Order: sequence, then structure tokens, then C-alpha cells
Amino acid sequence: MAIVDTRYKLNTGAEIPALGLGTWQSAPGEVEKAVSHAIFVGYRHIDTAACYQNEEEVGKGLREAFASGKVKREDVFVTTKLWCTYHTRVEEALDLSLKKLGLDYIDLYLMHWPLAMNPNGNHPLFPKLPDGSRDLDRSHSHVTTYKSMEKLLATGKVKAIGVSNCSKRYLEELLPQVSVVPAVNQIENHPALPQQEIVDFCKEKGIHVTAYSPLGSTGSPLFTAEPIVEVAKRKGVTPATVLLSWHLARGSSVLAKSVTPSRIEANRNLIQLDESDMALIAKYSDDLASRKAFQRYVYPPFGVDFGFPDKSSS
Ligand SMILES: NC(=O)c1ccc[n+]([C@@H]2O[C@H](COP(=O)([O-])OP(=O)(O)OC[C@H]3O[C@@H](n4cnc5c(N)ncnc54)[C@H](OP(=O)(O)O)[C@@H]3O)[C@@H](O)[C@H]2O)c1
Repeated sequence: MAIVDTRYKLNTGAEIPALGLGTWQSAPGEVEKAVSHAIFVGYRHIDTAACYQNEEEVGKGLREAFASGKVKREDVFVTTKLWCTYHTRVEEALDLSLKKLGLDYIDLYLMHWPLAMNPNGNHPLFPKLPDGSRDLDRSHSHVTTYKSMEKLLATGKVKAIGVSNCSKRYLEELLPQVSVVPAVNQIENHPALPQQEIVDFCKEKGIHVTAYSPLGSTGSPLFTAEPIVEVAKRKGVTPATVLLSWHLARGSSVLAKSVTPSRIEANRNLIQLDESDMALIAKYSDDLASRKAFQRYVYPPFGVDFGFPDKSSS
């Protein structure tokens, strides 16, 4: 079996393909083609979110692939996410996503961030307070939101539920209060931000980790980082291949975003990294951490640490 065909078993018993196509910041007019091309060249995992505002186009790309007759709905693992301004309207948000995607069910529905935002603020998706800060709804905890998501499982409209951007602390608060252990925690993850504490905690609790921004996102410095380039040379592959393969060596699935057909294809070329490759990259991670050199999406999410009042309502 090619490495790209690796699948990980979730705590629901379902399998998540190791490589997924990311769609954040994929421009309108490009993402439909990216999705259908990815599926035609073998991807079986597509990641989107309500706040990417591209679910309709992603849905078109999926339908184009299904219409070919070569791939069926059940062959493709589709993830979408509940946006922060919808934490009090979970089923309504899911129904909107299903409608836009043109699907009957989602394979994995994630709470995008464990923080609610004001649903009646000055913007439907990104409300801000007059001082420019995020308009958070502190009366509604991520535990309450997740309990609403648990109810979705009985509707058949989602096969699995999970979280995203959850630090260890948010998970520690959540787990004792809910009945369904999240299937996945989707977090930013790459050698400049290994998030080892979260990865280890998730492993211990049976929560699969999916890595986002594995290439370091747009304009990434990781492609030219010396140890990444060195491992790439050793293996005769590109730095992108090393960065994506790093997650498989850690037992995580990985989302690579591209709207460029040649890159969508190249990103399938995952390889096995060995212990010496991983050790070299770990040294780089440790060095960056000790110098606090890369701290973009460091948790707690949105800079808000714990302390919401409603711990176990509903
Ligand atoms: N849960 C969350 O909060 C969250 C947050 C961020 C992202 N995500 C998910 O994770 C996905 C991936 O993360 P991301 O979009 O931030 O960034 P990423 O996948 O790390 O990087 C994407 C960037 O790398 C370029 N690229 C792709 N393949 C390449 C290759 N082989 N060589 C050189 N450049 C390459 C892409 O350009 P082109 O497209 O122009 O080819 C794009 O500019 C997202 O799309 C989204 O689905 C989730």
C-alpha cells in the first residue's frame, strides 16, 4: 500500500484518510476545481468549514467527482466545522453546511474554536467590539456547545464529532463533562509548532490529531528551514514532502491546501521518515521553542484562557 493511502482508525470505528485537501483561503473559482482534481488523483479526504465561505464550491467539486461514477459519496471523508457565531445554533449551522455542500451527512463535524462569539454582533462571522477586539460570548462555554453537538449524532447527519484548536486545558475541562470523546482535535501542527503536549494528551485519550497548516501556511519559512532542506536532500524529495510526511511518522493525519494541480499531485508523494530524520527535525523544533522564535497560533485559543462560568449546563 502506498503511504498516501494510510488510514487511521477513529474512536468511532470509522477510518480517516491520512492526507486531506485543505480549502482555507482557496479563492472562489479555484476551490471547486481543486476538490474535483484532488479526488480524481486519489485524495479521499476533504476539509472545509462554514467560515471559509466556500462550502458551496466545495460541494460542486464533490458532485463533479461523484458524477464521474469513479468515486462514491461513501469513499470520501468530508469534514466541516461549526463557526463561533453559531455555538447557540448548532443544528441550524449543520443544516446550512449540509445544504451548501449538497450532502446528506458529514463524516466529521468539528467545533472550529472552543470559544463562542456574539451571534448578534456587528458581523455575522467575525463580530468585533468597538475597541477592535473579538466579540466573544463568554456566557456559553465550549462544553455546552459540545453537548449540543453530541445530540447531532442521533440525527445521522454527522458520523463523528470533534473539536479543533483545543489546548490540553480545554480538553481537560471538556472530557469529564461529556459522554462522547471527540473523535478528532484538529490543530495547527508542523515542526515549528509541534504542540507535543496536546498531541500526547490526545493520544492518551483516544483523540486522533489532524494537523493543519502543515506547510506553515501561505508564505511559509519552513520550506527553506535548514533541517527540513537537509532531510529533503537525504531522501531525494522536496521540503513539502518532508513537512507532510512528518505527521505520518507521528500518527497524525495532515491537511495540505493547494489550488495548484501540480502541487495537489505532488503532495501525495508521502514518504517514511526514519528516526534520524525525526531527530534532526526535533532538534530544530526544540531550538525554535527555546528561542520562542515561532509563536503564531500558540494556544490558548484567541488568547483566552479558561474561566467561563457555565461549566455543565444543559
Ligand atoms: N481548524 C482550523 O482552525 C484551521 C486553520 C487553518 C487551516 N485549517 C485547514 O488546514 C488546511 C491547510 O492549512 P493552510 O491552508 O493554513 O496551509 P498549508 O496547507 O500549510 O499551506 C498552504 C500554502 O502552501 C502552498 N503549497 C501547497 N503545496 C505546496 C507545495 N507542494 N510546494 C509549495 N507550496 C505549496 C499553497 O499554495 P497554492 O494553493 O497556491 O498551491 C498555500 O499557499 C487549510 O486549508 C484548512 O482546510 C484549519
